[in-house]
Amino acid sequence: MNRFTITKLGAGLLAAALGLAQFHPFGNPRSVPMQMRTELLSGAQMPESTKRILVEKCANCHSYASSWPVYSNVAPVSWLTERDVVEGRDHFNLSRWRELAPDRQETLAEEIVRQANRGSMPPLRYRMIHWNSSLNASDKAALSALAPNAVEDTSAGPGDPMRGRAVFEHRCTGCHALDSDREGPHLRGVYGRTAGTVPGFDYSVGVRKSGLIWNDANIERWLRDTDAMIPDSKMGFRVPKAQDRADIIAFLKTVR
Ligand code: HEC
Ligand code: HEC
Repeated sequence: MNRFTITKLGAGLLAAALGLAQFHPFGNPRSVPMQMRTELLSGAQMPESTKRILVEKCANCHSYASSWPVYSNVAPVSWLTERDVVEGRDHFNLSRWRELAPDRQETLAEEIVRQANRGSMPPLRYRMIHWNSSLNASDKAALSALAPNAVEDTSAGPGDPMRGRAVFEHRCTGCHALDSDREGPHLRGVYGRTAGTVPGFDYSVGVRKSGLIWNDANIERWLRDTDAMIPDSKMGFRVPKAQDRADIIAFLKTVR
């Protein structure tokens, strides 16, 4: 091949890669209507240092203010980047914080602190390209201000059903009712029930096939970390405090 052919080939490939980048197999997150481009975290009650870390290190995927570097315009990198942004915004969107109900904000804050302390965010593939995107100790400390109680703890005294009722009402009724199915199945009688057996409720395959009985130990594990117990389950929610979990279990035992 002479030089000319190689140049032509290279130009052809680049044109193809740029052309393919016009396709968006995971949805096109680049076109954001102007009115969505609001100030990040507007209305959020949190220290400035916490906001700054979220904006600097998380907003690229978790908001409408994503930036699109040159290489992200070339397929297939464009597709992978777009997928991260589509999924990231789906999980939470710093541009829409204000729209979340207060208890959702609280839950999300706890989840952010957990992910940050575990080192699972930003995703590894992203940290490999953006060398300064990892969270250092002071970033983690700043994020921890979001949810001072989110640090996992495992020690609890005996469960208190009265307190458990209050925690249940505060934390669970966004998705569950005692007597009707909502985003989650009804929970009256769940203690002692086999997992995934409310007729007509659309469970994840994992829960439906688990064969678990909801006893103390299993509810405790479920509320501590649903994904660790049953990967790909549909309940995106955790109760970080051991005493809260013990109290909820005591309450669930009383609603037969
Ligand atoms: C490269 C894009 C990207 C960046 C940057 C990023 N995330 Fe994510 N994040 C994702 C994706 C994709 C998901 C959903 C899938 C997954 O868990 O990998 C996600 C999910 C999450 C979740 C939800 C986890 C769950 O189980 O519901 C939290 C919390 C989170 N990210 C926090 C953060 C924080 C805090 C930062 C900044 C320190 C951050 N992310 C930076 C892409 C990103
Ligand atoms: C964000 C919504 C959401 C919140 C909040 C939530 N759940 Fe769930 N829950 C679900 C969904 C969805 C399922 C079905 C899970 C599946 O099929 O993978 C579920 C399933 C369950 C199950 C298994 C039921 C069965 O029939 O097998 C129990 C037990 C449970 N949740 C308890 C709780 C408790 C206690 C709380 C409060 C601390 C809570 N959940 C908060 C959505 C939620």
